[in-house]
Amino acid sequence: STPLVIAIDGPSGSGKSSVSKRVATRLGLAYLDTGAMYRAATWWCLERGVPLDDADAVAAEVAALPLVMGVDPQAPTVHVGGVDVAEAIRDTRISTAVSAVATNLAVRAELVRLQRAAIAAQGLPDSFSGGRGVLAEGRDITTVVAPDADARILLTASEDARLARRALDVHGTADAAAMLATRDQVLRRDADDSTVVQFHVAADGVVTVDSSDLDLEQTVQAVLDVVATVT
Ligand code: C5P
Repeated sequence: STPLVIAIDGPSGSGKSSVSKRVATRLGLAYLDTGAMYRAATWWCLERGVPLDDADAVAAEVAALPLVMGVDPQAPTVHVGGVDVAEAIRDTRISTAVSAVATNLAVRAELVRLQRAAIAAQGLPDSFSGGRGVLAEGRDITTVVAPDADARILLTASEDARLARRALDVHGTADAAAMLATRDQVLRRDADDSTVVQFHVAADGVVTVDSSDLDLEQTVQAVLDVVATVT
């Protein structure tokens, strides 16, 4: 059987990562977190003292990014230059800076190239998935990285739902203060990201799953239902 490729895009707080990891686990697929790649690139540039507004210098660092990712959806890993950065790349310091790197078009070209290679590699029998395939998630997977994927899904949620989820994740509560503190992280970052990638409206042939009124398990099921129509 040919390897399966599932592409999932969506804004921050849509539940993309939690849903994607569970769907990949159920289907025995590798899991490619492309947001982690932009975060790792940002971490590396800061580590190397490269000013993020120096587009050429940032592009040069990313062209030689010593990135190694593990694609087990139950234990994804991210190493840069031999350092385990899985936790460090979730810091507010990185979330605040990542759009500056992700809006660098030379960076995007390089990371898209790496992402396509990683997706192709999961079709091989000796890959993590044993050739079953891969679920890749991000902002431009359905449109740019893998527009020919077997299943393409845009995971959306209302602004309130997204802010509440991120507040719970980061602050452990979704009270008014926590919601306010997450506004920059979620809304400003999505607005900045939107200047170079479009992930608020489903492209042609992309199925929208709105998770505003669904819990995690219901959203996983909705995505599995979409995948079932193509397999
Ligand atoms: O999904 P996550 O919030 O970890 O993504 C971090 C950042 O990486 C996004 O805010 C965006 O700037 C960038 N990104 C991107 N294209 C992707 C995935 C992530 O530009 N495919």
